[in-house]
Amino acid sequence: MAEALQQLILDTLDAHSTISDTRSLVIPGQSEPAASQDAQIAILGALNSLLSRDMVKFETHEIVSHVLTPEGSQIAVEGSHEARVWSALPAKGQGAPVTPAQLMKQVGDETAKVGQGRAFKNKWIGKEGDGLVKLASTIKDSTQIDLLEIQSSGTLKSGEKDLADLRKRKLILQRKGQWFTVQKGTEFSTSTAKPETDLTVEMLTSGAWKTSTFKKYNFEAEGAPTEGGSLHQLLKVREEMRNIFLEMGFAEMPTASYIESGFWCFDALFVPQQHPARDLQDTFYISDPPHSLDPEPEYYKRVSTVHEHGGYGSTGYRAPWSHEETTKLLLRTHTTASSAHMLYKLAAKCRGEDVEDDRQDSAGGDEKAKHDDGFRPAKLFSIDRVFRNETMDATHLAEFHQVEGVVADRGLTLADLIGFMKVFFAKMGIKQVRFKPAYNPYTEPSLEIYAFHPILKKWVEMGNSGMFRPEMLEPMGFPKDVRVHGWGIGLERPTMIRYEITNIRTLVGHKTSIEGIENSPAPMF
Ligand code: PHE
Repeated sequence: MAEALQQLILDTLDAHSTISDTRSLVIPGQSEPAASQDAQIAILGALNSLLSRDMVKFETHEIVSHVLTPEGSQIAVEGSHEARVWSALPAKGQGAPVTPAQLMKQVGDETAKVGQGRAFKNKWIGKEGDGLVKLASTIKDSTQIDLLEIQSSGTLKSGEKDLADLRKRKLILQRKGQWFTVQKGTEFSTSTAKPETDLTVEMLTSGAWKTSTFKKYNFEAEGAPTEGGSLHQLLKVREEMRNIFLEMGFAEMPTASYIESGFWCFDALFVPQQHPARDLQDTFYISDPPHSLDPEPEYYKRVSTVHEHGGYGSTGYRAPWSHEETTKLLLRTHTTASSAHMLYKLAAKCRGEDVEDDRQDSAGGDEKAKHDDGFRPAKLFSIDRVFRNETMDATHLAEFHQVEGVVADRGLTLADLIGFMKVFFAKMGIKQVRFKPAYNPYTEPSLEIYAFHPILKKWVEMGNSGMFRPEMLEPMGFPKDVRVHGWGIGLERPTMIRYEITNIRTLVGHKTSIEGIENSPAPMF
């Protein structure tokens, strides 16, 4: 049907070059012109399809048309009430007159009631005795004729007065409608063959491309969403934090070793061997292989001595030292283990080791060189995974990420640490920070970091910081005036707040929503 209609329109245009009124078209398979609104709607569909291929152009004209009500439709089929009354009666003088009661039985109450009055008025029927008879031998049922005309054309040739009368009698309803004038478009042709969407090898070899019509590019069309990869929210936030560190001149530490020894994770940091953090309940230990290689013996000696007996101005813990404890292998509980490795490496020259060094050496012979103790300042950061034997709940998993920064220079003070953190958090969009004294085995003083969260509108704990203790730095070989401050914050918490995720299990693990990952925007701190 749709194809046939399009063909009809094109053929008519081909013959007459315009169609001045689409209501004059005779739709294939029908005998009457397409005057009804339903027909015009079908024509509009065909016109739009042809328009999209520029085969036609058309103008729309608004008209008011009419449709029959259910009562109107019945009259169109069975005749008006008055006509039905008339045909139920005998002609005058031919048979017994019909009483009103009989008439009601024959044509129904409604028709008998409405029809009688009108039939009398039209002089179609008359009284005879108690009954009714036909007066007219033939009648013209103009109501039925009018309704049939409206049914096929949507309107009446006789005009508005009769239409108003039928509307008042609730036999028809007004309906807004359209018709169209049609002209040839720029791509007019009488062929409705669908335009080609691809230029194929076959077309090129057969030469069919010369006569084919091609579908135009639709530059307005929205492309299909691409199925590219997407960074997980944690990685998006990590990227932002990494950028903040880099623009502040920090270098990234290597953090690939998830497995550390008790020595690097705790002992080197002056965490007592009896510290609860080292318990099975807090740390995952590795059973195979059972032990790490021994650390460098001289450094090991200095570390064990400061624990057991003190030194560098410290009394030490004065508790028995266990070699076994130091060689235990474990999943690192903090990235400060990596920081310890890096600081130990940074102090190599201070220990007098002959290390390759791309840093500017003081020229030999001058005054400075004599005093060069090998120390060079450093700013280091890492963002990586750590593991703790935690009971899991909505905000805790047994593994999470730490963001850690470490700065080493001569004469640093707590004010430098505080100042640094203020700058860092400001770059994350957090302008208000507070610090609370805390305890950390490897730092003194230590500070907990609280931030006023702009989204949550409350103070939240962000992390932990402090000045590394001499008991940790001096055994490594750092000169006495070198201070190192460090701090660590979690990556999960700011990520969850940023993306309004309330349960960590929807951020990490099998319940993660892939769609959520794809749709979450890059964070803007
Ligand atoms: N390692 C600490 C933690 O796990 C963070 C920290 C790093 C504190 C450096 C002080 C210095 O919370």
